[in-house]
Order: sequence, then C-alpha cells, then structure tokens
Amino acid sequence: MASVREIIQLCHHELQAIGIPDARLEAEVIVMNVMRMPRQDLFAHQEDEATTQHEQDIQGILDRRGTREPLAYILGYREFYGVNLLVNSDVMIPRPETETIVEHALFMALMGMESPQLVIADVGTGTGAIAINLAIHMPAARIYAVDLTDPVLNVASYNIRSHNVADRVTLCQGDLLEPVPEQVDLVVANLPYIPTGRIPTLQPEVQWEPKMALDGGQDGLGLVRRLMSQATTKLKDQGIILLEMDPEQMAVASGMALQNFPDATVTVEQDLARRDRILVVTQGLE
Ligand SMILES: C[S@@+](CC[C@H](N)C(=O)[O-])C[C@H]1O[C@@H](n2cnc3c(N)ncnc32)[C@H](O)[C@@H]1O
Repeated sequence: MASVREIIQLCHHELQAIGIPDARLEAEVIVMNVMRMPRQDLFAHQEDEATTQHEQDIQGILDRRGTREPLAYILGYREFYGVNLLVNSDVMIPRPETETIVEHALFMALMGMESPQLVIADVGTGTGAIAINLAIHMPAARIYAVDLTDPVLNVASYNIRSHNVADRVTLCQGDLLEPVPEQVDLVVANLPYIPTGRIPTLQPEVQWEPKMALDGGQDGLGLVRRLMSQATTKLKDQGIILLEMDPEQMAVASGMALQNFPDATVTVEQDLARRDRILVVTQGLE
C-alpha cells in the first residue's frame, strides 16, 4: 500500500504530466477529499497508508481530470468566500475574482447604504454564490437571485437551502432584471462577459462550462448593455450597481453606465490580483 505522501506525489506527477496548472495543490485536494482528511492531517499523517478503495477512487478522479474536466465538477463542490457550494455542469464554477463583488457590497453596506432592509438583485446567480454570501453577511437584506433555466435554479435553490438563507433569498426565473418584482437598492451581477470569438481560445476546463454562463456576445458586453438599460427603471434613486467584467471592458462599460445614468458616479474596483474588475455605478451622489 502507498502512503499519503507517496500518493500525493504520484497524483502530482500525473497531473503535471497532463499539463494541469497548480498540480501539487490539486493533488492535495484530491487526496484530502478521497481520504476525508482535513488539510492539517495531510502533513501530520503523511505515513498513513491509503486503502485499495482510496487508490481506486483517486485513479477514477485522475482519469476524469485527464479529460480536463474541472476538478470542481468532479468533486461536486467549490468553496467561495468561505462557503461550500454544490456545482455541476449546469452552472459556472464560481471564481475567486468574483469574491471582490461580495467584499465591495459588504463594504458599501457598512459604509452607508443605510436602508434598514436593503433590497438586492443578484443577476445571473448561477450557484447562488454572491446572493448566499450577501444573505449570510447582511442579515437584514432581502435578495432576488435571477437566472434563466430550471437546471441552474435547481443548483442555486439547493445551495440557498443548505446555507439556511431561503427565507431572504428569492429565486426568480427570467431575463436579467425583468422578473424582479420591485425596485432595488443594489444590483450585483457577474454576467457572461467573454466575447463569443474568444471562448474557443480559453483553457480546456472552461470549455466544460455552460456557454450561457460565458458568452457575452460579440464584444462581451451584450448582457451588460441590456442590464444597464433595464436598471433605469429597476434601481432606486440612491441605488448602486456592481458589475464584474474584464479590465479592458471598463472604459466602454463606463460610457454605457453614464448614458443610462447621466447623474451617476462611475468608479472601478480592483480584484486581489490588482486588475480592474468591478464597475461601480452610484446613483444620486452629488
Ligand atoms: C458568469 S456566470 C456567473 C454565475 C455566478 N453569479 C458567479 O459569479 O459564480 C453568469 C450567469 O448568468 C446567467 N445568465 C446568462 N444570461 C442571462 C440572462 N439573460 N438573464 C439572467 N441570467 C442570465 C447564466 O446562466 C449564468 O448562471
């Protein structure tokens, strides 16, 4: 039987050989999951032996990973802002850069969006990643989480219920802000923003994700454009919009925001990698 240390090494080399970035980290995550070990045990129990069943399960994961299926789909979950979320191939896997939207929304709530019960729309909710974290950290907020299809909403619904926020997060099915039944204080959205032509050039793992979650049309801003226009009637007078996009889209998107909200202040927030990531449109600031 191989030890935990040997198995991690084997996994690492196999993942490296098939060109997986962060092969060592993935090897550790795979072993932690199959052997149900918390991270600290990986090192404290390096010489423990894996069972034959463990070895078979790990090989099964490596075989799937060899097809470049994302690890999150294989394991069935992804951690986002400290919470575990169910994921499957119907939804996009939440990305670390999207945590910037959550951080910024929480910061703004702290700094002065004083409404006693903020009403928020998370447009294109996917797994529910943003909506769930806002609900967890803003106990008075009411949140509408919108997406297009039943399979996506089923995943979001499972996650919302498993994090006990179903009393304040309402799922809505439809196009962008259309199904949201009232005006909101805050719109948060990580909409598809990849230009259609760029999708085939992205890494193989991305090709497993739903096109509906990636494809932003010819310039990547098709949905953002429509959302801004819908927001003119769905955003309260002092409302705020937070939109994730690519750094190079910021200038064009700022122009769109000012066209729809001529009195707004438009700023840009950076993600942890210090790349321009979130467009912030603040209505009604003097
Ligand atoms: C980039 S993913 C983001 C998912 C999630 N918010 C996150 O950050 O991980 C975009 C999401 O928008 C949804 N979507 C695409 N077009 C939409 C539309 N017209 N109306 C509502 N949602 C839409 C997709 O189904 C997908 O779940």
